[in-house]
Amino acid sequence: MPESLTPLTPLSPPSPLAFPAGFLWGAATSAYQIEGAVREDGRTPSIWDTFSHTPGRTVGGDTGDVAVEHYHRYRDDVALMADLGLNAYRFSVSWSRVQPTGRGPAVQRGLDFYRRLVDELLAKGIAPAVTLYHWDLPQELEDAGGWPARETAYRFAEYAGFVAEALGDRVESWITLNEPWCSAFLGYGSGVHAPGRTDPAAALHAAHHLNLAHGLGTQALRAALPARARVAVSLNSAVVRAVSGSAQDLDARRRVDNLANGVFHGPMLHGAYPADLLTDTARITDWSCVKDGDLAAIHQPLDALGLNYYTPALVSAAPEGGSSSADGHGASDHSPWPSAEEVAFHQTPGERTEMGWTIDPTGLHELIMRYTREAPGLPLYITENGAACDDKPDPDGRVHDPERIAYLHGHLAAVRRAITDGADVRGYYLWSLLDNFEWAYGYSKRFGAIYVDYETQARIPKSSAHWYATVAGAGALPR
Ligand code: NOJ
Repeated sequence: MPESLTPLTPLSPPSPLAFPAGFLWGAATSAYQIEGAVREDGRTPSIWDTFSHTPGRTVGGDTGDVAVEHYHRYRDDVALMADLGLNAYRFSVSWSRVQPTGRGPAVQRGLDFYRRLVDELLAKGIAPAVTLYHWDLPQELEDAGGWPARETAYRFAEYAGFVAEALGDRVESWITLNEPWCSAFLGYGSGVHAPGRTDPAAALHAAHHLNLAHGLGTQALRAALPARARVAVSLNSAVVRAVSGSAQDLDARRRVDNLANGVFHGPMLHGAYPADLLTDTARITDWSCVKDGDLAAIHQPLDALGLNYYTPALVSAAPEGGSSSADGHGASDHSPWPSAEEVAFHQTPGERTEMGWTIDPTGLHELIMRYTREAPGLPLYITENGAACDDKPDPDGRVHDPERIAYLHGHLAAVRRAITDGADVRGYYLWSLLDNFEWAYGYSKRFGAIYVDYETQARIPKSSAHWYATVAGAGALPR
């Protein structure tokens, strides 16, 4: 086996590693990260347009104005997917392209783009999975209060219905929200994502209204879609580990786990917020934003659960007297995480990607097994997994990314091991199809299996893309 194909963390699955028949081999993207064309066909600004155009918010002042011009190059991009033998593609719909300002009737030109994209995919035998919300709230809805305002959840349900009416005859897989944790806690807590607010109570209220949006949106989808449609949500549920088994460290782990995971999967999967989450956060909010009937509305039967995984988190009780987190992330008085006196975040040891995220496929196995227990009988999809690497074309014009191949191999082996251990994982979407706008990092981080030259918009499949094509074609990992 070539060096580059050696998994970083040795696992002991059978080899060759065949995946179940019908397994989806996909790639994922999101609208603001790839489309560009932000002022075309009636689209209005989203919170990410505003945020990225605000000085100091993104690396290099980068914006999604042009991105990778997917809005105009989608046919070529779908052809590349077909060349790679993908049988699934997850993309998101730009709310402000379909319903500018987030209110009023849907705009046909906006919907038509997604119909054309879906038709192109279907013609190539690629199953589309539509994410309705991947962080790009119409700016007008933010001006009216954003996710901390209850009304936004109702607006989302209306928008979900429009998209379902337009695409429901040709799309079977639907995802309400992508990573609501990021929308709530990075958008309104730490403020490193749009809209850049730093208000812990607003972050928790946003979390509740995102949950409500998921529930109301699921109902709107069910009302508009044929019975064969499948509805899911994509969570970036964190794998939270404690540095020791001490009571204090385990308590820190419990608190973080509630704010990372239970705050979403509690109401979505079990119809209730964890009781200790409500008491732990009582100093921030009294949770009076939760109205009668909300939990029932959120607790909708789902057809699948999407899990996005990149790296695990490592926490401890904060040292005596309270200090900031060990690695500079995490708790502060402006964060909805437990206060600095309670929790410290640590860098997990080991090799890291260009994001500084530790590479640990065992976390993916742990995550899958957790949700196999947490949601028995619910099919699971890995709706995102991948690595940012320092990719550059060689003088021969090719892009070699053995680190990404090793990352993907290690994580796919972890998925396969979870299947052996009884998990019902039906598909895997590599993040990302193309290099793209990595939010606050702008274009400085490359996650794509396909390299994009941002000057010319030329696409070059990296060696990882060819490797993934081989795996998808064989339905198995190489020996
Ligand atoms: C999660 C997000 O859904 C996606 O938009 C982002 O680019 C990747 N993770 C990598 O950070």
